[in-house]
Amino acid sequence: MTLIKETDFGTPESKSEKLVTLTIDGKSVTVPEGTSIMRAAMEAGTEIPKLCATDSIKAFGSCRLCVIEVEGRNGTPASCTTPVAPGISVKTQSPRLAAIRRGVMELYISDHPLDCLTCAANGDCELQDMAGAVGLRDVRYGYEGSNHVFARNQGEANFAWKPKDESNPYFSYDPSKCIVCNRCVRACEEVQGTFALTISGRGFDSRVSAGMDEAFMESECVSCGACVQACPTATLIEKSVIAIGQPEHSEVTTCAYCGVGCTFKAEMRGEEVVRMVPWKDGKANHGHSCIKGRFAYGYAQHGDRILNPMIRETIAEPWREVSWEEAIAFAADRLKATQEKYGKNSVGVITSSRCTNEESYLVQKLARQGFKNNNTDTCARVCHSPTGYGLAQAFGTSAGTQDFDSVDDADVILVMGANPTDAHPVFGSRMKKRLREGAKLIVIDPRRIDLVRSPHVQADYHLPLKPGTNVAMVTALAHVIVTENLVNLDFVKSRCDWDEYQDWAEFVSLSTNSPEALETTLGVPAADVRAAARLYATGGNGAIYYGLGVTEHSQGSTTVMGIANLAMATGNLGRRGVGVNPLRGQNNVQGSCDMGSFPHELPGYRHISNDAAREAFEKDWGVTLDPEPGLRIPNMFDSAIEGTFKGLYVQGEDILQSDPDTRHVARALSNMDIVIVQDLFLVETANYAHVFLPGATFLEKDGTFTNAERRIQRVAKVMRPKNGYADWEVTQLLANKLGLNWNYTHASEIMDEIARLTPSFAGVSFKRLEEDGSVQWPCNEESPHGMPIMHIDGFARGKGKFVVTEYVPTDEKVGPRFPLLLTTGRILSQYNVGAQTRRTENSRWHEEDVLEIHPHDAEDRGVRDGDFVKVASRAGETTLRAKITDRVAPGVVYTTFHHPTTQANVVTTDNSDWATNCPEYKVTAVQISPSNGPTEWQEKYRELSEASRRIAITAAE
Ligand code: SF4
Ligand code: SF4
Ligand code: SF4
Ligand code: FES
Repeated sequence: MTLIKETDFGTPESKSEKLVTLTIDGKSVTVPEGTSIMRAAMEAGTEIPKLCATDSIKAFGSCRLCVIEVEGRNGTPASCTTPVAPGISVKTQSPRLAAIRRGVMELYISDHPLDCLTCAANGDCELQDMAGAVGLRDVRYGYEGSNHVFARNQGEANFAWKPKDESNPYFSYDPSKCIVCNRCVRACEEVQGTFALTISGRGFDSRVSAGMDEAFMESECVSCGACVQACPTATLIEKSVIAIGQPEHSEVTTCAYCGVGCTFKAEMRGEEVVRMVPWKDGKANHGHSCIKGRFAYGYAQHGDRILNPMIRETIAEPWREVSWEEAIAFAADRLKATQEKYGKNSVGVITSSRCTNEESYLVQKLARQGFKNNNTDTCARVCHSPTGYGLAQAFGTSAGTQDFDSVDDADVILVMGANPTDAHPVFGSRMKKRLREGAKLIVIDPRRIDLVRSPHVQADYHLPLKPGTNVAMVTALAHVIVTENLVNLDFVKSRCDWDEYQDWAEFVSLSTNSPEALETTLGVPAADVRAAARLYATGGNGAIYYGLGVTEHSQGSTTVMGIANLAMATGNLGRRGVGVNPLRGQNNVQGSCDMGSFPHELPGYRHISNDAAREAFEKDWGVTLDPEPGLRIPNMFDSAIEGTFKGLYVQGEDILQSDPDTRHVARALSNMDIVIVQDLFLVETANYAHVFLPGATFLEKDGTFTNAERRIQRVAKVMRPKNGYADWEVTQLLANKLGLNWNYTHASEIMDEIARLTPSFAGVSFKRLEEDGSVQWPCNEESPHGMPIMHIDGFARGKGKFVVTEYVPTDEKVGPRFPLLLTTGRILSQYNVGAQTRRTENSRWHEEDVLEIHPHDAEDRGVRDGDFVKVASRAGETTLRAKITDRVAPGVVYTTFHHPTTQANVVTTDNSDWATNCPEYKVTAVQISPSNGPTEWQEKYRELSEASRRIAITAAE
């Protein structure tokens, strides 16, 4: 393995289809119109020296190192800012050019610390490289003049000297090394879209400043690292590089956090990660990342990781550390005994959207082949199961219709119940870029998310609907589209079921579905709803992006179908720039669903009652499969409380913390005879487990993840698993102890089996992924390299299906006892229940979950900013600190759920989506009152967790 070096073409690629031919150093070169001469030269194999240019940002033309000569033109233009022209002849090397370049470098070097040998960037510094490239041998001006290094050493006060800024835990800023090339400022603006940096001062005093000359940690900086990546010197550099040294080999792998699926080069020294560098060829992220993927990988080395298996007879006993053999034998014996005693349906599994496709596939296979039942479910149950159901109904495929790149062609972007800048940050940046280019924006969300108003981005319409009224909203939008004759009838007639369309059109046209009639229900002015509907229907390419604010409702599936109705009615499907795009929360939500994790579906979304599909698996696995769907997660809990469900193997999900109504989950778990938890840490669910099987991180195993655009990407093992096994190997140990005869020696063999048995994956293999980088399913004979945009010529189900979406208000109603509606969401620096991010420096940004409350509601209750408040619902109560803000409307409160002690799910109810049982996390009627501190339950819970951890740590010692 070597260090992967990517080519820097100096300026971004031109998208023009028109080609231009020119001559560079006597060689004929043909490139798209609009390409810079610098890039054209690089494509022809000639690297022109450069410092202020890099291909992730637009050319700036400030350093003058990249000068060239063009025959017949005067002067020496900068090649980064000069576009190609037909027939011109360019010279990149001449005595005149060499002298100019040397002169430029001399000036830079005369004002630069000469500590190359001890500099952390030694060997990876463009300034150093350019000094060599231009043949700099001498600096005529000496180093003693008024330069920054001298000034720093002397403590001179004749200009506003800035000391090093070490405030950010992940990178350092040393102004003495800055060459004021502006690359960081442009990266923050163009790539990330945060506009946190400026160049302040003039001439000799110019320097990079975060915000109003603040420390990075106090500024608007969101720590994405784009500036660090763009910096050609050691001015902005990862602290891990300073601590460890330059990497010596790298592997391409995929982020294990969110559904964007950014790919990275894991740059290593031995088995130590030096840094994660977003991969330019990554088709989901194109070289960008957020704070989590780039920096928050330290949890893999955290001392809290449990590396040895543990067992205990009862959950009242302390853990006992044992060998893998003993733990697996204990687990298998208990599972067998449970099935013998309570029947074959008394045990089940839960797969994880954090684990690989191969791992989820094996866990559901264990239930179906080993337990001989369909009691398999996945954590997607509690997030995007309504997407699977709703989109399958409407289009015939349980997945989003577009690739991320498609947003570049969107004219109107409608974001509903999603917060891309926090939950899908890299795609959020991409979306903001398109918005800065002029696309229009409609945000439908009870809370004023950042996208509504951020630097150079302003939503055209923010519709802050009351939580729980999504269906009424999509119906009101549809009412306007139909009654104002904005329907794309050509599309509907040719692509959709006409009878169903007519039924739907008649329904949405009812006056009771007008924005005016629904104004009080929605809490949004009817005029705004009308204007937003008109904009979506007539503004050109309309693309809908939605998230858990749509799915986690009692009518989650109905809203998904309502969204599909809007897209079909306006013809916004089947091409770039449009579509229906669920933003998946976790890294492999799409994949865990694809892999047959649901109790009613085999891999590839084939119903378990489908004889042909079942027979294929029966033949391959040598078993008879049960044609009846098994238990969903909530049914598992209910059955456990009834005493009929007694054993659970849960891989990589902290159900106690992430599922609703914590006390109900706790009751269910404590009623089981065997709970097997496989995880990295002693998560909260482990408090109720009898067997703990240590898990491996994404850095320690091979496999694949599938992101929100159906893109299957490789996860690469860059170090040996600290616990000894990849997760799929542990499942295989358990399966074999249960009498199955699995012989997988590599994750690629599991994918080969998936491909063999799943038509939409038929063309997928590790070899294909190596060749293509990634593929978007379906990948088979018809589309051997995958399918970026779906439903181009027709829907997967044939005719698109319009579904009448009747609004049924949730049972969760506000009243005198619980007058406010609580809704939940995520924050950029943390991830889900925080098991990983809380064990990194990311906690510096979000040490605790807080309750956002409107000033009026706070005043009514005598609550001040920072006070502890009690949040009480029908299900339970918890305590949080209050944050007073008008981001939420009066009557609505909001919190995140990243810290276990917050116990946000103690208050969420057991209401769920009618079609899929996805919990109604987004609507809970609550009352808020001042409090002195944590509730008794929170204290008890904290003690329980800490006690468990102490036992585990003692055992490990
Ligand atoms: S880390 Fe990201 S947000 Fe912060 S200054 Fe750099 S580019 Fe801007
Ligand atoms: S910090 Fe780095 S990228 Fe920014 S201006 Fe200075 S040298 Fe250039
Ligand atoms: S956007 Fe998502 S996938 Fe990309 S680096 Fe951040 S957490 Fe990872
Ligand atoms: S690289 Fe072209 S002017 Fe700096």
